[in-house]
Amino acid sequence: MCADAMCLTLEGVVTSGHGRGRILGFPTANLAISVDSDTPVDGIYACFVNIPPEPIMRPATMSVGYNPTFHDVVGRQYEVFIHDLDRNIYGDRVRVKIVERLRDIIAFPNVEALVEQSARDIEMSQEILALVTHFDPASDDF
Ligand SMILES: Cc1cc2nc3c(=O)[nH]c(=O)nc-3n(C[C@H](O)[C@H](O)[C@H](O)COP(=O)(O)O)c2cc1C
Repeated sequence: MCADAMCLTLEGVVTSGHGRGRILGFPTANLAISVDSDTPVDGIYACFVNIPPEPIMRPATMSVGYNPTFHDVVGRQYEVFIHDLDRNIYGDRVRVKIVERLRDIIAFPNVEALVEQSARDIEMSQEILALVTHFDPASDDF
């Protein structure tokens, strides 16, 4: 499941983004990643997120890139949509473990197309992550 370069780990503090995620229906946690994080290539990923001190791995979908659908995004964005989170985690330091790359990040012709594809990405992430049982947030590996 976690083949080759796909077991990358990132760590970062949750900051505010452009505030569009909530309007689109996928509120993402924007990460200011630490310098010693692995650097995945731009794309959409199935991943797990650990929010210390929680002892659990939360299924999530991450977007890495310049959000090319929009034209006001400066800098590479690392955004995680945590599937089952219903609280604000601004300021928390979180850890991300990438499991699989789903696709390239692309410029959609409109916001509706982005939302539709994001829903499909999240569904696919859920299917992939449901098969993973061996990640322990307390282990050194993470
Ligand atoms: C599952 C998922 C897939 C995404 N795919 C793309 C994409 O292909 N192209 C793109 O421009 N942005 C993509 N994004 C990023 C969104 O543009 C971004 O999350 C949204 O604009 C909210 O950003 P904000 O938090 O800075 O407001 C994706 C986000 C998620 C959660």
